[in-house]
Amino acid sequence: MSTTSKTIAVFGGNGFLGRKICEIGIKRGYEVTSYSRSGKPPQAILPNQDQNSNQNQPDWVSKVNWSKVDIFQPQEIKSQLGQFNTIVHSIGMLFEDISYKKAANSASSLSNFGDITRFINSIMGSNPMQKDKKNMSYEAVQRDSALSIAEEYIQARKDTIPRSNAEDEPIGNYVYISADKAPPIIPERYIKTKREAEFELSKKLYLRSILMRPGAMYDETHNLGTTKRDVILKSLKIGVDLKNSLLGQNFLSNLVRPVVSTTQVAEALYDKLEDPGFSGVVPVEFIEKEPK
Ligand SMILES: NC(=O)c1ccc[n+]([C@@H]2O[C@H](COP(=O)([O-])OP(=O)(O)OC[C@H]3O[C@@H](n4cnc5c(N)ncnc54)[C@H](OP(=O)(O)O)[C@@H]3O)[C@@H](O)[C@H]2O)c1
Repeated sequence: MSTTSKTIAVFGGNGFLGRKICEIGIKRGYEVTSYSRSGKPPQAILPNQDQNSNQNQPDWVSKVNWSKVDIFQPQEIKSQLGQFNTIVHSIGMLFEDISYKKAANSASSLSNFGDITRFINSIMGSNPMQKDKKNMSYEAVQRDSALSIAEEYIQARKDTIPRSNAEDEPIGNYVYISADKAPPIIPERYIKTKREAEFELSKKLYLRSILMRPGAMYDETHNLGTTKRDVILKSLKIGVDLKNSLLGQNFLSNLVRPVVSTTQVAEALYDKLEDPGFSGVVPVEFIEKEPK
């Protein structure tokens, strides 16, 4: 496999984590393509800013190739996939009713505990089991889309790369954004479908699989604006840090899991990607050691 090519496609590249993977990829000298439904760069979320304006966007944004695809139709971009040395799948859902995402990603106006409680209630008030839209299940989004993109990628790579080497040698890298554990209120199928995808991907011939297992994430840099999610997750991080300093890291470590920044996840991803001998699971304990 060519290890020199620094070409990467990020499915979900304009999402909360995906945009950081794109940003750090550009900083590390990769040619980065983002695929998402809208095909647009992450929208500015600064208060009072025109949502369709790219003004004030950081420089890296203009260096990414922002492309459009439906993850359930990866065959439509098969001819493009062969060029990439690495594919990242960074798409998932906490609840099957996705209305929670809009609330979480809106600009922060949480100024006190009452605001935070009302926000959490607005998320919890949605029916997690609602499946009113086609393909809006954990199975479809978190498992099946990852596997069908992997299949199209393998076929595209086989068509692109002359194969003189051992039959089952990897011909591409596939990074799957999984998760550490399911938060308490999230249905069990959230983590079950992540583990099923991990299992299937790790068995695939021709792929070197890297399975990232971040915990809850916040955005350290918020260079695109602070969201309600940032406020809540940063508060959670302060709580976990306090617990660790008062009671030690091992105390309740199965229940109180590390909270990490999107920067740490993205840096850990590239560190493992650039270690040619590595494949398999990257646990949150590794991710949290990265500089913030
Ligand atoms: N956020 C956390 O705290 C956390 C914690 C642990 C693990 N994770 C995992 O990390 C990954 C990324 O999470 P995130 O919070 O960054 O998600 P996110 O902000 O919701 O981003 C999802 C991305 O997927 C794209 N997308 C959704 N449906 C699509 C479709 N049908 N076709 C093409 N693109 C589609 C979205 O772009 P468009 O809307 O433009 O299509 C967006 O770029 C997920 O696997 C998640 O389970 C997240």
